[in-house]
Amino acid sequence: MHVAMIGSGYVGLVSGACFSEFGVDVVCVDKDQSKIDMLEKGVMPIYEPGLDDLVEKNVKAGRLTFTTDFGPAVRNADAVFIAVGTPTTKGGGHADLSYVYAAAKEIAQNMNGYTVVVNKSTVPVGTGDEVERIIRETNPDADFDVVSNPEFLREGSAIGDFTHPDRVVIGTESERAREVMRELYRPLYLIEAPIVFTSRTSSELIKYAANTFLATKITFINEMADLCEKVGADVHDVAKGIGLDGRIGKKFLHAGPGYGGSCFPKDTLALVHTARDVGAPLRIVEAVVDINDKRKKAMASRVIAACGGSVAGKTIAVLGVTFKPNTDDMRDAPSLDIIPALLEDDATVRAYDPEGMEEAKKLLGDVEWCKDAYSTMNGADALVIITEWNAFRGLDLDRVKSLLKSPIMVDLRNIYEPEEMAESGFQYHCIGRGTAGA
Ligand code: UGA
Repeated sequence: MHVAMIGSGYVGLVSGACFSEFGVDVVCVDKDQSKIDMLEKGVMPIYEPGLDDLVEKNVKAGRLTFTTDFGPAVRNADAVFIAVGTPTTKGGGHADLSYVYAAAKEIAQNMNGYTVVVNKSTVPVGTGDEVERIIRETNPDADFDVVSNPEFLREGSAIGDFTHPDRVVIGTESERAREVMRELYRPLYLIEAPIVFTSRTSSELIKYAANTFLATKITFINEMADLCEKVGADVHDVAKGIGLDGRIGKKFLHAGPGYGGSCFPKDTLALVHTARDVGAPLRIVEAVVDINDKRKKAMASRVIAACGGSVAGKTIAVLGVTFKPNTDDMRDAPSLDIIPALLEDDATVRAYDPEGMEEAKKLLGDVEWCKDAYSTMNGADALVIITEWNAFRGLDLDRVKSLLKSPIMVDLRNIYEPEEMAESGFQYHCIGRGTAGA
């Protein structure tokens, strides 16, 4: 089985490496020569745990290659995956499909023999039909099927999500294409991962429905956390108490500063627009988008309140700037709302992140970047945890207290226990669990 993966970004690279691990011959294609050069040297363009080893192993085994040469890669392939970006259109909120359509055209010009064209990019309902139309128009003799096969990979645990998925969704009406997809995912049959075969349209919608549902779950617990603060309840206990109900489930009930990343903000917005366009507005999702945007902005006010109402002239130490741990991804990270608001209020901000600083430096001006957690807080007026990297979970609290000018900690990820923090002499501010020692 030969696969061409069009687009060697996050999704294409992880999926390509994992398929090659399944024993498939994979060629990852990208227009960006410098990216292909890096990959050929074994340098990963993104930080994803385990990806470098997986790539190295499969390159050595001769099952995984990289190229900018579209033609031969597509001509040899039984299945061509489209895994290019679908960013939000400027000022629009729709998904920009120009890269998907350009890939479809180029595939049509190069395909040879029966080919399954698989859409892995996150695309609105109906995109598969348009891809099919473009291929047919460009190459009327082509023998092909277009399949939707959305990805459910989380950054930071993408390899595990690919090799041990909760489910695989395959959208096509063609039995011939299903056979090819079954063959590709055969190793997952052995571990009995559920494979959901459905129509292309349903498959496209499943991807958006999954992400918007998860974003809604997070937003629900975030609002519940705000209520907990008002009534003196503990959001951890509330999450546990509802999450143990199998109908609700305990995952994605961690209250925090609001969801970020390259998927939830973009996909919730795109679905809102799709739904409005067809006259079936999703009022719940519209509220989720609005609440989450406002929440990220409101987090800076929490820090300012914890510092006695003003941060002017104060030094704030920030730990973690990526949208979540185990990634260097800064897209729509809460830090991008919080840090500028603190700077605007005349604070000096010092920050540290294990993987995100290179990218963050491009996005956040006027921040003093530090070499580790402790040097960041040295002499600071308050410490703020924005991303819950493991390295921040077991800080030496006596050392933290001795380094800070005043023992104020704002923990936007609830990684410490309020009672222990109060006992350690901190003024500890977290999300939905009361304020300790203030
Ligand atoms: C998300 C989905 O989880 C994947 O299944 C999907 O494939 C992917 O989008 C995508 O569409 O490509 P990802 O964006 O990598 O994956 O990150 P998540 O782990 O889902 O976290 C998203 C955001 O929600 C982060 O900012 C995280 O901090 C936040 N979050 C998550 C919470 O605030 N609370 C939670 O309980 C869980």
